[in-house]
Formats: sequence, structure tokens, C-alpha cells
Amino acid sequence: MVETNFLVIGSGVAGLTLAVKLASTFPNKRVTIVTKSNESESNTKYAQGGVAAVFNAEEDSFQKHIIDTLQAGDGLCDKKVVEMVIKEGPKRLYELMEWGARFDRDTSGKVALGREGGHSEDRVLHHKDMTGFEIERALLEKAHQLSNVILLPHHFAVDLITEHHLLDAKTDRISCYGAYVMDQISGNIITIKSDTTTLAAGGLGQVYGHTTNPAVATGDGIAMAYRAKARIKDMEFIQFHPTALYDGKEGASFLISEAVRGFGALLRNGKGERFMLRYDPRAELASRDIVSRAIDSELKKLGDTCVYLDCTHLNIAEFEHEFPTISETCKSKGIILSKDWIPVVPAAHYVCGGVEVDVHGRTSVLNLFACGECSRTGLHGANRLASNSLLEALVYAHNIFEYHCKYSLSSSTISIPYWNDEGVVFLEEHKILQKKIKKLQKLMRRYVGILRSNAELQKASTELDKLYVETERLYQKHKLNTSLCELRNMVNVAHMIIDQSLSRTENRGGYFNMDNLIKKTKSYGKIDH
Ligand code: SIN
Repeated sequence: MVETNFLVIGSGVAGLTLAVKLASTFPNKRVTIVTKSNESESNTKYAQGGVAAVFNAEEDSFQKHIIDTLQAGDGLCDKKVVEMVIKEGPKRLYELMEWGARFDRDTSGKVALGREGGHSEDRVLHHKDMTGFEIERALLEKAHQLSNVILLPHHFAVDLITEHHLLDAKTDRISCYGAYVMDQISGNIITIKSDTTTLAAGGLGQVYGHTTNPAVATGDGIAMAYRAKARIKDMEFIQFHPTALYDGKEGASFLISEAVRGFGALLRNGKGERFMLRYDPRAELASRDIVSRAIDSELKKLGDTCVYLDCTHLNIAEFEHEFPTISETCKSKGIILSKDWIPVVPAAHYVCGGVEVDVHGRTSVLNLFACGECSRTGLHGANRLASNSLLEALVYAHNIFEYHCKYSLSSSTISIPYWNDEGVVFLEEHKILQKKIKKLQKLMRRYVGILRSNAELQKASTELDKLYVETERLYQKHKLNTSLCELRNMVNVAHMIIDQSLSRTENRGGYFNMDNLIKKTKSYGKIDH
């Protein structure tokens, strides 16, 4: 049994920011961060574009950023949350800079601002095309300087500890007491008891297989919260990034940042036509949902497997300076930017929903908080505005920290049982897990993608039910390992995506169901593309 004051699950921008703030302010308290894989492996590390915030007061304003966010969110954002996050944003970024995060500067020394889809002004702070990497570096450096931060890499949070695990507990509200955590090297399950627990466990792109997310993005935080009976919302809003590099392979896909379109790259279909103007007057810089659906429609019309990003008219030396990682990756694939177009397709990128939290980051479970991609704050609504996610993570990590400063949460005296895995056996055949993961990913790509229909969602639901039963059987009978836990989590989050999709009766933002379109056509007599 390990006891800690603050347990943080996840080591991306949200988790590290919170941990650093708590540890600096409460030097006598222990902040334990558990994270699967290496300490820096997170969605944050792969964020290329940057952080959206108002830094150019002459051209830009909070009001403009608020309007852009609300417009992208298609009527489902919480306006108060949007206002709060956008107004707090610059303060959180200055703080991050003080901690050593470096953002690109223009020749006059001012922060250089990029443009991405859905933004009416240049407002994306970035570090070349490695913004997340740089933020992660600075935060880890800071965390390592604090002796009361205990960072446990290769530790996988299996389940949150709640009344469910306490046989004699009587309560009308579920509370969280910490988590059961697997040491991924030894396979042992550790009981971590904590005064408060924060989920900062990132996204779930791996549910689709074809994703811009790294292998660790398996929806663990949302799945754990769901099993702990926390409220989960807006899971139908999966954001597909329009431009993942197409290399004909299944699986994780390299991102070609939206900032590349902000820099002037054009989208062309297989016939070489610049098609985006037919879909939206903002063309390549329309919001992501619109661009992804437009690409999907072009691919279906022409029977193609990819569209193209044309950079040939751009200043390539400048491009290489701005986007060194993208340029290098293209070069390694034999793509010469001055004459070749970059083949791209949409890929699963971000979940706009997640564990529902209030403005302090509190979930519906007592002493359980959430921030970052696994949380649903109300900022993104039906579709996240580009580069608003790192911003949200910074602001909510701060809000959770402030809440902890105001209300000191005392240790519970409750006794927590150890993990019981009596009678389980080692899983001999690991391939079975990989097979099931592949099956799940295929099902999600095929039936729960950019365009959905009720019949396909039902089909997915039926298939998933079978997979759920098989997975639970494996989970109950075998000693845990990472793939088994990830499969179980992915089955849970897939279930939420499908279920909440079936409950949505109108198309909004990133959610598009053909049956809702037909309904709308019937009532209004027009097709709304
Ligand atoms: C990108 O660089 O295109 C991704 C940024 C984001 O998802 O906000």
C-alpha cells in the first residue's frame, strides 16, 4: 500500500502542470504521478500546432477568440467556460514561459503567432512544429526539480478505488480513494491510497487504429471513470484531423499540422482540383469537421484513397524552417515539397467529450478530478477549435490546483482492501489480445467513422457486445497485463461512443449521421451539407 496526498494519473501537459503547482505550493505533501510507458509519452508530446491564445491585442481580442470557439463548437459549447478559458489563457502561458517553455518569436522579439482552421486571427503560439514536445520537456524538467513529486513511469492505473471496492461502505455519493495501479515491469498491482485523485490520462485515438495519437492513447482515464460511475458526456464528438500523412498503412499516422494550411498549403483532390472552396468560403481554413467531411466526400466521389496538400507554391526554405519535423518526415518518404504534393487522409485525432467536470475540474465522483483530453469541460462543444486543447489543459490544471488551495481535503481513515487476484492464471496466448484490439479498431473505422448511420451504429453495438463479453471473461480469469487492460478500456470507450452517438438525434459539429440528415431533409425540404 502506497499513501499519497495527491494522485495524478497521466504525465501530459494537464497532469504535469497540476503536479508542479501542487508540489511547489505544498512542499510537505506528496504528489504521485503514475503514467504508463515513459514519463514523456503522451498526446501532448505529439502536438505540433500549438496553443491558441490572444497575444496580439492590436488585431485580436478575447471576443474574437470566443466567437471562433463557439462557432467551431456548433452551439454546444458552454459559453461561460469558453469565456473563462480564453481570458485565463494568456496568464497560464506566461507562467509556462517562466517555467522555461520556449515559443517561437518574430524578428522584433514578439511571440510569433500562427493561424489554424476556424481561427479568424493569427493566435497560435508554437515551437516550430514540436510545440507539445517543448512543453512536455519544460514541465518534466520542472517536475524533476521538486523532491515531493514522485513520478512513476511504466505504472498503469487499472481502476479507481471507490465504495465499490469497500465491502462495508455505506454512502449516498460515490467517492474516490485512489487507484489500483499495475507496475508494468513486474506485473504486480499496487494499491495507492490518496486524499484526491486527478485523471489526466489523455485521449483514445487508438480505438480507431488509424489515428494521429500515439499507442498510449487508449481511453484509460475515461474508461476508469465510467466504471467508477462518473458522468461521461459528448463521446459522440470524435474529431478527425483532416490531414494525416497517407502511406497506405493501417495504424498510427504522422500528423501534417493544420498550421501547414495556415502557412498557405492548398488541398487538392485526385484530379488536382482545389475543392475546399466548394464546401466553405474559408476553404482550407474552415473548421476541422467541415474539412474532414469535405475530404471524405471527395474520396467517395472519386473513389480515391487520399487527397493532397500542395505546398509547391510556398517558399520551401521558410517552410522547412517553420516545420522541420514535417519536412524531414516528407523527405524520408521521398516527397520533395517543391514538386510533390503530400498525400493525406483524415484520421481520429481528439475526443471532444469525456469525464464531465465543473469549472473546478470536479467530476461527479467525490475527490475525483479530471483535466486535459479525458475531461469534458464544455469548452469544445461539438467540435474543438484547433489548438484550444493545450490551452484547456493548462487552465483546468490551474483551476484544480486553486480548488485544492482553497479546500484542503483531508486523508480518509477508511481501510482499503488489497487487489485480489487469487485464482487467476497467466494468459498463454498474447496474440489473442492483439487480434481483439484489431477487430475493435476495424469495427470502429467501418461503422463509427466520420459519417455514421443508425443501422451501422446498431451493427457496431451488436459486435461490440460480443467483444465485451469475451474481454470481461479474459479479464476475470487472467493475471493482468497492459494489452488486456487497454483492450478492456477501449471496449468501454467504444461502447460510450456508440451509445452516445445513437442518442444524438441531430447533426452538430463533428457528429454526422446520415439518418439525421434524412430527417432534416424531410422537415426542411433541403439537404444541409
Ligand atoms: C495540428 O497541429 O494540426 C494539431 C493541433 C490541434 O489538434 O489542436
